[in-house]
Amino acid sequence: MLRFLTAGESHGKGLVTIIDNFPAGVKIDEDFINEKLKIRQSGYGRGARQKIETDKIEFLSGVRGGFTTGSPISFFIKNKDYDNWRDRMDAYKPVPEESKIHTPRPGHADFAGSIKFGLDDIRNVLERSSARETASRVAVGAICQIFLKNFGIEFASAVLSIGGVGIDKSRGSELNSDPLAGYSASVIDLFDPSIRRNIENSELRMPYSYLEEKTKAYIDKMKAEGDTVGGLITAQVKGVPVGLGSFTQWDEKLDAHISMSVMSIQAIKSVEIGAGVKSAYLKGSECHDSIYCGNSKNGAATGFFRKTDNAGGIEGGMSNGEIISVTCAMKPIPTLMKPYLDTVDLNTCEPKKAFLERSDVCAVPAASIVVESALAFSICYFFLKKFGGDGLAEIKRNYEGYLKK
Ligand SMILES: Cc1cc2nc3c(=O)[nH]c(=O)nc-3n(C[C@H](O)[C@H](O)[C@H](O)COP(=O)(O)O)c2cc1C
Repeated sequence: MLRFLTAGESHGKGLVTIIDNFPAGVKIDEDFINEKLKIRQSGYGRGARQKIETDKIEFLSGVRGGFTTGSPISFFIKNKDYDNWRDRMDAYKPVPEESKIHTPRPGHADFAGSIKFGLDDIRNVLERSSARETASRVAVGAICQIFLKNFGIEFASAVLSIGGVGIDKSRGSELNSDPLAGYSASVIDLFDPSIRRNIENSELRMPYSYLEEKTKAYIDKMKAEGDTVGGLITAQVKGVPVGLGSFTQWDEKLDAHISMSVMSIQAIKSVEIGAGVKSAYLKGSECHDSIYCGNSKNGAATGFFRKTDNAGGIEGGMSNGEIISVTCAMKPIPTLMKPYLDTVDLNTCEPKKAFLERSDVCAVPAASIVVESALAFSICYFFLKKFGGDGLAEIKRNYEGYLKK
């Protein structure tokens, strides 16, 4: 069973990650991984931290001569900012009383985390609950993508809207007051070359450039007001064979696994597969994707295809060969630059304003690559479960044998 564990604090020495049960013989493309890490660090509306860091993967084990060995893969991503936090993050130096934080920020792990662990300094919670951890997840997702490329499986992701400015995923047109009107299917094909180019060239990772200025202006306005924004993200995967996941047990379902992978990302508050929430407003005759013989232009070459993809490529907990699409909502960043939010001192119960810490105004573009990475992990997990073997050559034989049946 493919699994990974991460460790590390936001201002500690760095992040450590272990991936277990990854097959041998996979050629590792470090540039590809570092490119994904760079995307996570960029995007309009990010804070000063990203100017300090230039995330790069450093393998500690499990890769030799450029290829995975089948042993646990471990890697390190350095926090350059540690140099500025050495004193406060030292493993042994006592923490001065005056630097301890007792006022939890609403929307963060601060409150429940410090009560749960009985901690008298909220920094011990916020350092680990921080989205700095998503750098590890992006690297894991990139390694999974490198493996899946061997089977023609490709991933893409984009930002649909930020703070209500943007496009409706169902129609590819600008959001209006009635986002359910005229709904038919998820029509934005993130693999379309011109859309891909727009996403790559956009600081917002948006598929349509005409919304760029309007959205940036909204982020600027939020920044000027000391406020923050969230948004809607979509990710897709193409070329997934029929039958990953299972209908036989609740925790074997592909959509359930993807939902957990994506929902566990900091600040993600909803996960939809395909039409998602909008399927509640459709009739059965409008919602379900009729089946035809012939190869799909959009998915795996199965000999069957659909003209619509409201199911988002998953039926009965299994991939059906069409594009798998996931859309999710990211809430606004909970650390604000002005004291809007009330809180209390946990020791004295005195009313306070939530403390202000250097932060992003908008991290939706960065989060979109994290969502893509989470999706890549889930697909890789089920791919290995179905075609599993210890090395790439063996997995290729299993995969080709399945396709022949
Ligand atoms: C890529 C990314 C960057 C983030 N940057 C920040 C940030 O700079 N400041 C902040 O307060 N929250 C940031 N967040 C969100 C918080 O980490 C998150 O809201 C918090 O840990 C609480 O978790 P929850 O929202 O899942 O409940 C970011 C999230 C992501 C995915």
